[in-house]
Amino acid sequence: MTEKKTWSDRFEASLHPAIARFNASIGFDIELIEHDLTGSIAHAKGLAKAEIISDLEAQSIISGLEQIRSEYKAGQFNPGIDEEDVHFAVEKRLTAIVGDAGKKLHTARSRNDQVGTDIRLYLRDRITEISAQLKAFQQVLLELATDNIETLIPGYTHLQRAQPLSLAHHLLAYFEMAQRDRERLADVYKRTNISPLGCGALAGTTFPIDRHYTASLLNFDGVYGNSLDGVSDRDFAIEFLSASSLILVHLSRLSEEIIIWASQEFSFVTLTDRCATGSSIMPQKKNPDVPELIRGKTGRVFGHLQGMLVLMKGLPLAYNKDLQEDKEAIFDSVTTVKACLEAMTILLAEGIEFRKARLDLAVAEDFSNATDVADYLATKGVPFREAYNLVGKVVKTSLAAGKLLKDLTLAEWQALHPAIEADIYTAIAPKNVVAARNSYGGTGFARVKEAIERAKKAIDID
Ligand code: ARG
Repeated sequence: MTEKKTWSDRFEASLHPAIARFNASIGFDIELIEHDLTGSIAHAKGLAKAEIISDLEAQSIISGLEQIRSEYKAGQFNPGIDEEDVHFAVEKRLTAIVGDAGKKLHTARSRNDQVGTDIRLYLRDRITEISAQLKAFQQVLLELATDNIETLIPGYTHLQRAQPLSLAHHLLAYFEMAQRDRERLADVYKRTNISPLGCGALAGTTFPIDRHYTASLLNFDGVYGNSLDGVSDRDFAIEFLSASSLILVHLSRLSEEIIIWASQEFSFVTLTDRCATGSSIMPQKKNPDVPELIRGKTGRVFGHLQGMLVLMKGLPLAYNKDLQEDKEAIFDSVTTVKACLEAMTILLAEGIEFRKARLDLAVAEDFSNATDVADYLATKGVPFREAYNLVGKVVKTSLAAGKLLKDLTLAEWQALHPAIEADIYTAIAPKNVVAARNSYGGTGFARVKEAIERAKKAIDID
């Protein structure tokens, strides 16, 4: 038997080197090392509690595991392909440090429940971090909203000018999306936070372990009630990738808007030098690389979600090596979501400036107050559909005459309908048009102020 060998004496020949490389996950699952050590410490305590190993053995195992943690942090623990995966790498190093006690650590457990434990511990931490990042993103949105309650911006449907909005109202829509993202993550957390430790390879173990004890040491909320499910469940990973995909849907939509706003055609925002880049050939250009990258990276996470669903759909119970493929999908999604959230938060805080004069002009130069003429007539007793048709007519004639609604004379208005009086001009002024949309959840300034107060409270859900 060579030093490298991890398998039992059933094996005689060593693995083909290409197959060893193909089989190994150490290149990426080293990411789990801290959680693997934490999980193993809890397992060692559980073994001692069940008197499967002595307290002394447990202590030496734990100090060995802590030593590996320090070595890793100091950059001195760098396992390679020979170790296959992080679990074997740790066990091998532990045995080198503490001797025979190290060989007892794997009693009453399998790499199947071990890796399931590690990935849940890892994801738990990342969910907490991503949730905090979402909160920071919301805080920036809230600050921008507070500063821009009375800043107007054209509102669109079909990317056609529809009705003007308070810029704060527009920004708060993203606050709401981020709030749902946090709620979803909190929900995923619940199902991630269940311990599979002690499920063994698939069937449980013959040793008298206390799974609830190790679960509580690791701050899990509970334990899997079925060992087969415990080792083969990756629902929580799919849920995480789904929640991550939605976070990126939201960031990508905001990115798309910022890209449009920054175009010369819109010119609603200026990109500051902090977050914009230049062109290598066209010196006049300032490019929105940050929102473009966020929009672009979104696809990777959708891909990982799809990949995980396909990975799982044909797997017979219980563990199959296919499950090793879950890690890169999870790790890359975590990296991508975190990077995008960080970049978007910085972009909002320092990377864009709203061009208020340009926005004022934009909301004044279109027909987005047409609904308000119809509403005006409706409040004077004209049935809405009739009013709608009348305004359609006046928009048509105004367009032909190259005029806006605000340019019509009172005589022209009264020719349209005798109920129209001089107050039509105030009714269709952009600020008043926005202020008047005071239904709950609408863009009216009073409602937006309330929404900001609600948001300030809601942001502290956890
Ligand atoms: N590296 C493996 C994984 O990531 C660990 C579990 C291996 N289990 C096994 N029965 N081969 O899934």
